[in-house]
Amino acid sequence: MRVIGILSTKGGVGKTTIASNLALALQSFGRPTVLLDFNFTTPHVSLYFNILQAEKTLNNFLKNECSFNDIIYRHSSGLSIVPTSLSLSDVVSIDGNLKNVIEENLNNFEFVIIDSAPGLGREAMISLNSCQEAIFVATPDFVSVFDVAKTYKLINNLPEKPIVLGIILNRVKGKSYEMRREEVERYSGLPVLAEIKESETFLKSLSLRTPAFLFDKNVSETFKQLAAKIAGIPYEKEKMIDKILKIFGLRRW
Ligand SMILES: Nc1ncnc2c1ncn2[C@@H]1O[C@H](COP(=O)(O)OP(=O)(O)OP(=O)(O)O)[C@@H](O)[C@H]1O
Ligand SMILES: [Mg+2]
Repeated sequence: MRVIGILSTKGGVGKTTIASNLALALQSFGRPTVLLDFNFTTPHVSLYFNILQAEKTLNNFLKNECSFNDIIYRHSSGLSIVPTSLSLSDVVSIDGNLKNVIEENLNNFEFVIIDSAPGLGREAMISLNSCQEAIFVATPDFVSVFDVAKTYKLINNLPEKPIVLGIILNRVKGKSYEMRREEVERYSGLPVLAEIKESETFLKSLSLRTPAFLFDKNVSETFKQLAAKIAGIPYEKEKMIDKILKIFGLRRW
């Protein structure tokens, strides 16, 4: 089991978007994957996947109101999802050790992807302490990359630190004022694992309540390449035969 946290101290840079599409890409390779929402104050995973009336959530489990099996939802894509409650009245004070909860209940998955809360508050710190590996998300501007570099330094001072795999640059427009990949790598000391383009498809995905991986072939290709890199799977660009199978509805991705 690999527990990978998707992190950024800056809010709104694309953590949930990337965690969702990356988890789908890993699952599409047949690697059992679970996406864990660890954003209790502003949870978004269930909105992105249209799990609006989850009977039981991570909040209920942390309040000892149900078993962990009750809160693992199977999406039609095959991905497993652990949502947190959308209701404000359900907010739990999280002082438990999420690391143990994951180890005890999710060890039959190959990948546990944690969608983290922004900032460096309690929620974010618990997800940071619970993951074995971390990926930062940043937009290609100095403020966002500065925050990543700062958090990376902080992580290096933690007693039990996750291995930081690198940065995913999101919302890249290709403009001259943006920080380039090499500049980001030099400044942060971390490799850039992928560059995700600015695209309206992600906004469309919100209204469809379906991650873009499931309907946009450019997005699915980008995230498959990223997932292959992370999982160490040899992967080539989609072959013509797969494209044809998809056209005839014989394959989904
Ligand atoms: N590459 C992209 N192109 C265009 N829009 C994007 C892109 N990535 C994310 N977005 C949009 O930006 C907004 C914020 O994305 P997202 O919710 O993934 O950020 P977040 O880091 O999880 O936010 P929070 O810190 O609140 O948890 C959403 O409306 C999302 O659709
Ligand atoms: Mg989010």
